[in-house]
Amino acid sequence: MRSDEIVMQSYGRCCASASFFDDFYQRFLDSSEEVREKFVNTNMPAQKQLLRQGILNLVLYSRGLPPTKLKALAESHSRGKLDVQPHLYELWLESLLLTIEQHDSSFDTSIKHAWAEVLRKGIDVIKSGY
Ligand code: HEM
Repeated sequence: MRSDEIVMQSYGRCCASASFFDDFYQRFLDSSEEVREKFVNTNMPAQKQLLRQGILNLVLYSRGLPPTKLKALAESHSRGKLDVQPHLYELWLESLLLTIEQHDSSFDTSIKHAWAEVLRKGIDVIKSGY
């Protein structure tokens, strides 16, 4: 199976797990003070819904869709706007991979590598707009 297909199936299992997005944000916020500061005024239930779609956009990009949505995220996360410095995406990626490991009952190293490949491509697009 191609990486994007492995990831689509794994993401389906993660989204079926009730606390997936709660656990992701718990882990991500715990990862650094800088991350916590970014979300002080955020409505977290709404943010969890936005992230559900955001991850899907990363997966669809790896399946060949044009990066239109990712370019918009690059713009909103850029310097002068949300100002998400590039190193913070490493914490995001690490937090997400650990949360996937926790929630995908079929998780193994090939699933981990597939996710890392898929997410890396999309994150590069978003970071390059900083
Ligand atoms: C590839 C990884 C990421 C994806 C897919 C993603 C996705 C999103 C989406 C869909 C939104 C809402 C729409 C928008 O504002 O454009 C958003 C908002 C936001 N993101 Fe990200 N994001 C990512 C990485 C990060 C990182 C690393 C940080 C750093 C802490 C961050 C901080 C924020 C903040 C502060 C908001 C605004 C929250 C609010 O409205 O109060 N994001 N993100």
